[in-house]
Amino acid sequence: MERLNHILELLYDRGEGFFSLEELSAAAGVEPADMNEHLEALREKGQELELTPHRGVRLVRPVRLDPHLIERGLETRRIAKSVLCFSEVDSTNDVAFDSVLQGGTDGLVVLGEFQRLGRGRLGRRWICPPGANILLSVLLINSKAALSHEALTIAAGLAVSEAIEDACGLGSQLRWPNDVLLEGAKTAGVLVELRNISAQRAAVVGIGINANASPDPAQVDMPATDIAEHLGHPVERTEVIRALLARLDGWIVTIEAGELERLHERWVARCGMMNQRVTVLSGGRRHVGRVLDVSPLEGLVLSCDDGRRVHLPAAGSTLDSCES
Ligand code: BTN
Repeated sequence: MERLNHILELLYDRGEGFFSLEELSAAAGVEPADMNEHLEALREKGQELELTPHRGVRLVRPVRLDPHLIERGLETRRIAKSVLCFSEVDSTNDVAFDSVLQGGTDGLVVLGEFQRLGRGRLGRRWICPPGANILLSVLLINSKAALSHEALTIAAGLAVSEAIEDACGLGSQLRWPNDVLLEGAKTAGVLVELRNISAQRAAVVGIGINANASPDPAQVDMPATDIAEHLGHPVERTEVIRALLARLDGWIVTIEAGELERLHERWVARCGMMNQRVTVLSGGRRHVGRVLDVSPLEGLVLSCDDGRRVHLPAAGSTLDSCES
């Protein structure tokens, strides 16, 4: 396995470039006669290879998600010590929760190439084609961060926005409670769920990012886009995921340390909603007013047209309209 991972790593790091079979064998310390067997094993793991007699071999980009490529050299403190990648699941959030009873460890990261029953917020579906986007869940067991659903939700959105900038150089905006937008269109969403499982408090931070494909406009209720559309070329999901895990790890450590002001400042700096007039449906009521703040503990702070000042929690709230 180690040898195979090394070959995968060599091919991945070469990008669009080819390796001659001799050069690859030498770099990987493999007998040239055995190289075909290793390449076949990579194909069985789901990687697509382009093999030509004159130029040699290269990985077809963007590559299939692989735990080794995601984990290697990642310096996280709290999450991603273990990464699982599945071809198809019902929901990565469910896989993360189910793992608690099967020895799944705190910080586990679950990725899926396809979800049969992907969940969005407020009972909506999260639909995307296989192999194109990022469907990721992080499991936290008995974490202090799970005490604040609010803080975890906004931290995850912020981490996505930062990761898109780190990995792709694109600036994005945050829309409370859980959306990341590129030029006003939704690119990513966050679904934080909490459950008690055999006397443990499990929190799962579920993140969906439209990396290389946007949803069918008929299936979503707001304009959507994907990162590739803004870059003008396909995005290597592995790089966005690595950046995301590094950023999310930092924010989870920050929340666990109780340093919410830093999270607040960074979030607000990327949010285009401050001082805008919005309509929010929350707790069965319609609230119309100006956005005063977004608090990591108390949610959206609104100065309502009727003079009330309200704090609306992320869970159960939906932004109905937003105007400048
Ligand atoms: C939303 O904007 O409504 C939130 C979408 C969250 C989707 C992600 S995809 C990975 C994880 N697994 C799920 O079933 N949902 C979340």
